[in-house]
Amino acid sequence: MAIIIKDNVFTLQTKNSTYQMKADSKGVLLHTYYGKKTDETDYSYLISMQDRGFSGNIYEAREDRTYSLDFLPQEFPVRGSGDYRISCMHADLGTGVRDCLLFFDSYQTYHGKYGLEGLPAMFASEDEPVDTLEITLKDSQEEFYLHLYYGVFEEHDIITRAAVVENRTDQEIRLSKVLSACLDMDHDGLDFIHFYGRHTRERKMERVPLFHGVTELRSTRGTSSHQHNPFVILADKTTSEEMGECYGFSLLYSGGFHLHAEVDQFHQTRLVVGIDDSVFTWSLQPGERFVAPEVAMAYSNGGLSQLSHCYHNGFQKNLIRSRWKDKRRPILVNNWEATYFDFNAENLLKIAEEAKELELDMLVLDDGWFGKRNDDFSGLGDWYVNEEKLGCTLKELVDKVNGMGLQFGLWFEPEMVSEDSDLYRNHPDWAMVVPDRRPIRSRSQLVLDMSREDVRDYIKERLFAILDSANIQYVKWDMNRSVAAAYSVLLPRERQGELRHRYVLGLYEVMEAMLERYPDLLLEGCSGGGGRFDAGMLYYCPQIWCSDDTDAHERTVIQYGTSFFYPVSTVGSHVSAVPNHQTGRVTSIRTRGTVAMAGSFGYELDLNKLDEEEKKEVSEQVKSYKKYQNLIYNGLYYRLCDPGESGMSFWEFVSEDSLEVLVQGVVYRAQPNALRRRLRLAGLSEEAKYRVTGEESIYSGKTLMAGGILLPEIKGDDMAVQIHLKRLSTL
Ligand code: DGJ
Repeated sequence: MAIIIKDNVFTLQTKNSTYQMKADSKGVLLHTYYGKKTDETDYSYLISMQDRGFSGNIYEAREDRTYSLDFLPQEFPVRGSGDYRISCMHADLGTGVRDCLLFFDSYQTYHGKYGLEGLPAMFASEDEPVDTLEITLKDSQEEFYLHLYYGVFEEHDIITRAAVVENRTDQEIRLSKVLSACLDMDHDGLDFIHFYGRHTRERKMERVPLFHGVTELRSTRGTSSHQHNPFVILADKTTSEEMGECYGFSLLYSGGFHLHAEVDQFHQTRLVVGIDDSVFTWSLQPGERFVAPEVAMAYSNGGLSQLSHCYHNGFQKNLIRSRWKDKRRPILVNNWEATYFDFNAENLLKIAEEAKELELDMLVLDDGWFGKRNDDFSGLGDWYVNEEKLGCTLKELVDKVNGMGLQFGLWFEPEMVSEDSDLYRNHPDWAMVVPDRRPIRSRSQLVLDMSREDVRDYIKERLFAILDSANIQYVKWDMNRSVAAAYSVLLPRERQGELRHRYVLGLYEVMEAMLERYPDLLLEGCSGGGGRFDAGMLYYCPQIWCSDDTDAHERTVIQYGTSFFYPVSTVGSHVSAVPNHQTGRVTSIRTRGTVAMAGSFGYELDLNKLDEEEKKEVSEQVKSYKKYQNLIYNGLYYRLCDPGESGMSFWEFVSEDSLEVLVQGVVYRAQPNALRRRLRLAGLSEEAKYRVTGEESIYSGKTLMAGGILLPEIKGDDMAVQIHLKRLSTL
């Protein structure tokens, strides 16, 4: 077992890391170590006790003024303990004061991985080296308990954490903050790497030094959001892709979140993460439990690529459940940028015919097939096929597409309602609008109250009716606005603060029900592109539409940021038309194809409008993707350069046995009379020999990683390069 317990010291061991806690003599659960793999020595000897001015002493310390939670490293700091740093919990146990004090109560361990009711969580099978530790803390006065869960994924160097609060008192407990995890570190000088953005510009990597004070990321949008992604990295200043220490934190949650990093007066660093507390309250009745979402933490002393590999492997094997995760995904053509709302069965079938000709696998019908939905002002919620617009039934269309040898996929936006819809006319109270106030619209639509059972039942009934009516093998689940001024008619005033979390639980419940009923369905997540691209969603969707920005140049940056945590197979990526609809930029079809191939690949244009040369290139791309798909999905992914710094973006896939290597990328600007650019490869077997496919020269892995390869001469902006190498033999 990867969990060693001795004298109330809990040591968790993964392949390359050690995590340690200790329930000390007062019963406080201290955090004593997280980093490079070591032994189970009690690392609390590193804590320097001293009487520190203005730092309170808990009563249990008696006259020992050196004992203060204001500086001690803790597993789950709470408000009211004399620790003035950011805390993980505010709990009103009955007095109106939001303070409590938690002490060690008990623990248990078992083989396997804990699960979380109603929430996504990493999982493991019996034969995997994964163990669980559950530590229970109890309030000093009340029957108020906190269960801290630790899932130890030895092979992936991942430790998951979750917190469950339990009310065993006979009165209501009011929670106004319950985060999922805290990590205290005894030093400062760390860099904070995070991924910010906006609609059509998601996950731009930014690396900033932490300072004395609080660095805060938050989504108050009811979704994980385009603006901030719920994953961050803490890294040493010198940590690079290839070397150095770093820690990753990924919250498995698709709603609003918050993440704080604080450097305190003693140069220590604390990171906390969990549900956004700015609009959160929860009334916990006697006997009830509140479950905070899971965090997956990882440690690497081999730089950022090794950290990414922990997440790529861990998420691919132990988070994504879909039957599709190891299968080649269908290469699809989606009609959105091809037709927008202006389509009928006839022109869809023309696209399908060409798709078949070019050996694609699936036609996806996007927004506009239901209700009176010919623009984005109406129809959402009326999930009834608009046969008049299509010119046939959905089944007839799907049968024809299937008859051509193509699969069929369909778009939904289940969580939304248009005011101009029958659904809204019949159930205005199903939208989350504050009574007697005018609604906050966004894309002219309102958000349905997913906390309501009747709303969820309606959505399920409609989704299932449509999915039962024809052979639909893929669903794109979209969500095109942020939650604002939300109110639920069914919740009393004092419980409105529960709405956003109840919304997320409701969303997960519907997705779960859908996947239970259609276990073979390929579900692609989407929220105006990547507005809900988070690890929580991956539990339901093996792929997520990465961004509404389909411009190949821009996509290299978006996909670069996304790659730090999320496996390539999860990144929905399509070739679209030029001039690009978002940026107006013109890039070659080869460049668009090369970039889109680093993901779950497809097209998003009218294939009939391509000229013969372009169609030939599409055929090549389809062949190439089918050939390399296994390497792309299951190989180790390396970022070869930072697009922000190098004027180019290159990435590499290396097969697990390092026999095959695929390098892809884009050089942004051509320059006259320039030296050819050099690119160092990564992850090769040092002593082995490699040959570039189509060339004679042979180099050792060592040479290719130290010296690199010369890129071809670049003529034209945004030129794509693809290089394939094969290992010959060992030297
Ligand atoms: C936003 C999505 O990201 C697009 O791909 C498309 O499905 C539109 N919504 C349709 O409204």
